[in-house]
Amino acid sequence: MTTARTTPASSTAAGDVDRIYRTNLSAGRAMIAEMTGGHVEVASEGAWVTSADGERFLNAGGYGVFITGARHPIVEDEVIRQLRTHPVGTRMFLDPVAARAAEMLSACTPAGLERIHFCGSGAEATEAAIKIARLQGRRRLVSMYGGYHGKTMGALSLTARAAYQKPFEPLLPSVTHVTYSDVDELEAELRRHPGEVCVIVEPVQGEAGVIVPEPGYLHTVRALCTRYGAFLVVDEIQTGLGRLGSWWGVDREAVVPDILLSGKALGGGILPVAAAICTDEAFGVLNRDPFLHTSTFSAAPLAMAAVCGALRAIKEDDLVLRAQTLGAILIPAVTRSLTRHLGPFVRAVRGRGLLIGIEFSEPGMAGEMLVELISNRVIANFSLNSDSVLRFTPPAILTEPDTEFLLAALDNAAHTVGTRYQHS
Ligand SMILES: Cc1ncc(COP(=O)(O)O)c(C=O)c1O
Repeated sequence: MTTARTTPASSTAAGDVDRIYRTNLSAGRAMIAEMTGGHVEVASEGAWVTSADGERFLNAGGYGVFITGARHPIVEDEVIRQLRTHPVGTRMFLDPVAARAAEMLSACTPAGLERIHFCGSGAEATEAAIKIARLQGRRRLVSMYGGYHGKTMGALSLTARAAYQKPFEPLLPSVTHVTYSDVDELEAELRRHPGEVCVIVEPVQGEAGVIVPEPGYLHTVRALCTRYGAFLVVDEIQTGLGRLGSWWGVDREAVVPDILLSGKALGGGILPVAAAICTDEAFGVLNRDPFLHTSTFSAAPLAMAAVCGALRAIKEDDLVLRAQTLGAILIPAVTRSLTRHLGPFVRAVRGRGLLIGIEFSEPGMAGEMLVELISNRVIANFSLNSDSVLRFTPPAILTEPDTEFLLAALDNAAHTVGTRYQHS
């Protein structure tokens, strides 16, 4: 006998949403939300998010998605227009929106990167890169300790954190991890397997806690890959599209990888989109056989409209320069505030552009600051590969009052946490 089901009432009340999370989604997610105040988010515009009970929060988190802020008018216009005309294609005919998005994206990447495979998440872009490297005969993978490339099985094999890998072993074979920034260790590995390796690296390691390498690092990695016939994938899923105050991290060192990965901000804060942007040579086999690596919703017109909107918004609002300017204001101000209130517990404030990390020496302090910031109506990020680092990834559309709000909230939060530690 089947049990009659009632249609659940749609509710935004925190208690109802929490109950449904615990029943039908992830109870763990609900528990984390409870620790950060039990808020339910229902609306967003620009740098601000509104909760079900009408509170507004400045979004300096979002894991790097919102370089254009939420619902940027240019992105929203492009997406709504596409939604009303042709959101999903038949995959039988050609699509002008995909063509436009590909042409626009290729025009803002380093010369030589011109063949694009679009997909729906950063992890899928990593998977595409792994498969393309194999098609090119590079069956060994080298990634960096602390690196984050996603959590599908292939991407997870490269995301070198035991806590995420162990429960899912066995992962891909022939994967080695080397120390980020250590070019000698990388060279030793490449020398052992000439012509067989695909190296994947981030220009700045975001999830590891904003680890900025020595100047010249990427340039040397490129040179080593060329010398030993290795394939180079640069993962700019978090760092690209202006986040570091340059279009791409590779631009700073004039490096052209075989594949550049993009994601997060690529969908303009409205749709999930990612891409593997390849040289003509790297893409080779996929060019001849379009059925070798496919996915039903890859390059769907609606997602492509979001890409066009994101790229237009970044250009028309000069967001790359804006990220650089804001970073130059925020990084010293964040350093001053934290040194004042939490000096002995701050190991480092690191960053480039609008990717900013604060490393604490005291276990749990990053979490306490995150909670305290939410009490002061600012959203920040955890770091998936480092428990001791709090991260800010604010949008590049922050106004002066927004910036002041962020810094005042940080000052208050640091003061509160600092007082707690003085009295403990
Ligand atoms: C550098 C980098 N690569 C890949 C990913 C995976 O992207 P996604 O979560 O969209 O699969 C992330 C996500 O944080 C990332 O920061």
